[in-house]
Amino acid sequence: MPGESRAKKTKTSKAKTKTVKLWGGRFASKTARTVEAFTESISFDKRLWRYDIEGSIAHAKMLGRQGIIPEKDARSIIRGLKRIAEKITVGRFVFREELEDIHMNIESALIEDIGPAGGKLHTARSRNDQIALDLRLYLRDETEEVTGLIRGLVAGLLDLAEKRMGDAMPGYTHLQRAQPVLLSHHLLAYAEMLGRDIERFSEALKRTNTLPLGSCALAGTSLPIDRDYVARLLGFESVSKNSMDSVSDRDFIIEFLCDASVLMMHLSRLSEEIVLWSTTEFNFIELPDAFATGSSMMPQKKNPDVAELARGKTGRVYGNLMGMLTIMKALPLTYNRDLQEDKPLLFDTVDTVKAVLRVLSEMLPAIKFKTERLLAAATEGFSTATDIAEYLVKKGMPFREAHGVVGRLVLYAAGSGKTFEALGLDEFRSFSPLFDASVFGLLTPGRSVSSKKSLGGSAPRQVKKQLRARKLLLKKKSRARVATSSAGVRKGPAGPFEK
Ligand code: ARG
Repeated sequence: MPGESRAKKTKTSKAKTKTVKLWGGRFASKTARTVEAFTESISFDKRLWRYDIEGSIAHAKMLGRQGIIPEKDARSIIRGLKRIAEKITVGRFVFREELEDIHMNIESALIEDIGPAGGKLHTARSRNDQIALDLRLYLRDETEEVTGLIRGLVAGLLDLAEKRMGDAMPGYTHLQRAQPVLLSHHLLAYAEMLGRDIERFSEALKRTNTLPLGSCALAGTSLPIDRDYVARLLGFESVSKNSMDSVSDRDFIIEFLCDASVLMMHLSRLSEEIVLWSTTEFNFIELPDAFATGSSMMPQKKNPDVAELARGKTGRVYGNLMGMLTIMKALPLTYNRDLQEDKPLLFDTVDTVKAVLRVLSEMLPAIKFKTERLLAAATEGFSTATDIAEYLVKKGMPFREAHGVVGRLVLYAAGSGKTFEALGLDEFRSFSPLFDASVFGLLTPGRSVSSKKSLGGSAPRQVKKQLRARKLLLKKKSRARVATSSAGVRKGPAGPFEK
């Protein structure tokens, strides 16, 4: 991650300094150290610095333009904020715990830098609308990054589906062999799920992309602010309509965590199949050495830890969703400090989902499919039984009756230790006179798969159609939302304080 090494150098000071609290006026004595340590959020919200500064620059521009503060002061504030951004970028900014959060760390550094004019920045603004803004700016970028990573994984699945187009495998229901399918059909099922995940994230983004700034503490302001102008500067599609709602709801975060949970649920299923398929029992795939780990005790082991961890991290992402829903439950309007707890959960989900998507995208193309073994497995277990029943249906037998005939045929064949192919025509005919030699043409996985010509089915033409449709969707670029960088400090989604 660019900037990460710099981030490590950035300090958070716990040392006693003569820092003045920005809200210290009505207090006669100092805050207890335990309280400072308990209430601070700078240790984790410093990753929002880029967005905080971007929002402040837009706000200062608006204040100057509206004549709420002198233009000269607005310009000086903007220059000061850009200097702070520089300092943070190179790792020379000291974040102070006693200044609580990212908002007050930056505001007090600004006042320290440019003097009393810096004290005008917080006019017609509260940390309540400021944090709501920072989170929306952050999540807008991260949502696009996450959907970009999902697209990458889908592209890998499509690639693999294209390469493995001719290969058959057993399809499962109840984890019992059911009917032969194309491996590509199976892989494309995941591409469909992930395609819907992209849609879900993109739809949630519409609701995230609305400007809360200008709601102030909760009631709005008596000063003549221009919220539409700020929205334009920051590239928001709309301006929030109720100031009390804007500072108090975090439903946009909950939606992201929901969508992330559904995504992880899908990825956990893919991971589970990778785990299963790499077992000696299934033996469908060989994991690349670079994506497997060994055992400290058992020398022969090659473990699918990446897939297991991806599966396990799903629990963590679900947990974050539950945590967030519980924080919000029954919370009275409007802002309450409980809301500060949203950030660790959100950041952890963003980091986890991105890490899982990256590693799976890298691992997938390196997996070796044992196609002979897949084909052999597709042949075993009477997996063409349904094809035989449909054969009888085509000859006029009601399906329920055909089901019974083939059921008895399976019972007979299994009892005499034979496969369908090993049965003679007379044996077939002893179950129904409708059988003729053409039945033998049905019994290979290839024939079985080719016959599934219904829309969305496993026939190669159908699967190729699914592949083409997904490819086309993937090509459609995500809605281009080009946020105007009023700050000139945005370098793309990943801020340097990922951790
Ligand atoms: N650190 C706070 C949070 O994350 C910022 C808003 C604080 N507002 C307040 N009135 N104390 O929610």
